Amino acid sequence: MKVLGINAIYHDPASALVVDGRIVAAAEEERFSRRKHGKRPLPWSAWELPELSAAWCLKAAGIRPEELDAVAYSFDPGLMTTPEDTGLFDDGDTMRKKYAEMAPDFLAHALPGLDPAKVRFVKHHVAHAASAGKAAPQRDNAVLVLDGRGEAHSHLAGRYVDGQLEVLAGQALPHSLGLMYEELTDHLGFLRSSDEFKVMAMASYGKPRFLGELSELIRATDDGGFRTEKIDFAEFAPRLGKDEPWTEAHADLAASVQTRLEEVLVDLARWVHEQTGEKTLTMAGGTALNCVANTRILAESPFEQVWVQPAAGDAGTALGAALHVAAELGERTEPMAGAALGRGWSDAEIEQQLQTAAIEYERPDDVAEAVAEVLADNGIVAWFQGRSEYGPRALGHRSLLAHPGFEANLERMNDVKGREQFRPVAPMVLLEKAPEIFSRGPIPSPYMLFVHDVAEEWRERIPTVTHVDGTARIQTIDAGTEPLVHRMIAAFERRTGLPVVVNTSLNTAGRPMVDDPRDALECFGSAPVDLLAIGPFVVRRTKRTPRPAQDRSGQR
Ligand SMILES: [Fe+2]
Repeated sequence: MKVLGINAIYHDPASALVVDGRIVAAAEEERFSRRKHGKRPLPWSAWELPELSAAWCLKAAGIRPEELDAVAYSFDPGLMTTPEDTGLFDDGDTMRKKYAEMAPDFLAHALPGLDPAKVRFVKHHVAHAASAGKAAPQRDNAVLVLDGRGEAHSHLAGRYVDGQLEVLAGQALPHSLGLMYEELTDHLGFLRSSDEFKVMAMASYGKPRFLGELSELIRATDDGGFRTEKIDFAEFAPRLGKDEPWTEAHADLAASVQTRLEEVLVDLARWVHEQTGEKTLTMAGGTALNCVANTRILAESPFEQVWVQPAAGDAGTALGAALHVAAELGERTEPMAGAALGRGWSDAEIEQQLQTAAIEYERPDDVAEAVAEVLADNGIVAWFQGRSEYGPRALGHRSLLAHPGFEANLERMNDVKGREQFRPVAPMVLLEKAPEIFSRGPIPSPYMLFVHDVAEEWRERIPTVTHVDGTARIQTIDAGTEPLVHRMIAAFERRTGLPVVVNTSLNTAGRPMVDDPRDALECFGSAPVDLLAIGPFVVRRTKRTPRPAQDRSGQR
């Protein structure tokens, strides 16, 4: 049975392919179109389909559109209510509904040969739920979808028993934790439905001194749902324009909303635990990318394990919709083995690209050793290996790497990427060494979706990745699933004593993550990166990039 999943309606358009119950491909459209987030989340862009990623999924599996058994579209226009009924008064919904209804015909046009009758609409939050509950390794689990909005809801609580979803609660709009957080993002001068993680980073600089006022306005209810009343954020801190400097009041507001969000999420998790008694909670929806909240849910709810879909935002609904429809068609679907579900290239294809670029390259005995050498010398490395990641995080396949022992490397990395200086960068750590250095969050943590405390004695040794509040958003590297990355970090540890490297996504300011070899060469050509490690090959920058005038902070 061959099922193509499509996310198109709001943002982060993406495609996924499930064949005979197995996930064979999943990718976001932005990696192909090179337009960040694929499109702006505006009503008149609702018709745009992830045509390039859909065509790639089919090509990668050698399937023609007419051979598909179903196409699962992660939104059901039949479940929409009117703009007045949602309480959002969003006139754009009329347009969204129309475009979603026409999606089968649009899809048949984009994928010639596809029968439009094979397109099935899947409720948006059922698609999110399946991306968690059916992709997690634990087959039976409780599930929470924490979103901005779907057709008429913003949340779903339920459970999967033997692959079947039982819905226990769903919060109707206009109440929405995701939209509330988006409002704050906008108020703080950032881009709504894109920059929410910047608010989370800013929160760690503030004190939650407005918590008392917010507790009434944002609260869980005893039926598994919640209320989010209209908040005038200007009462707490003035609205900021783009790139306007923020003050203590803004950081305090971010901290207050973040803390209140965490408290309400813990309440929602406790409720779904009470109803189900399950050991594992799975989560998806944009709010489930809030790794500070995820750690608190794990620590303060009765669940033993929390599994979050790495593509928790709307991109993940392409996969969830495909898994859901595959199950409807009678397939027993398999969980996802990892996030490396995007495009990959053979050594010969990569070498061909290097020759086309007429650039000097080498094939070292071991690319892991060559990279460790440059990192130990405080160089920056662009790392392009294997299939690209599904979801917003670089997980060791399209990464920018650096030495974690120099405080100034945070500024250096943020400069390469053109990012705000308050943004933290994250560590990759050898799984077996992680418990010595990191605590509180779960270990293993393969998808960078939780925060951990950095042990006191390690904070000065790895200052680049230790956030202002003494935390780090780690990715653990297992030798079994990521042998090359593991070997590279182990080689770095032999040279420096640190089983940790800095890892951030491989892209430059405002661009999507690098996906194909040409993107990698373009990124390497325009950014002060010392080495590009692409497949078994390396390309060296002939001129040494500027190193900050700062000693290793641990040796101060
Ligand atoms: Fe969503």
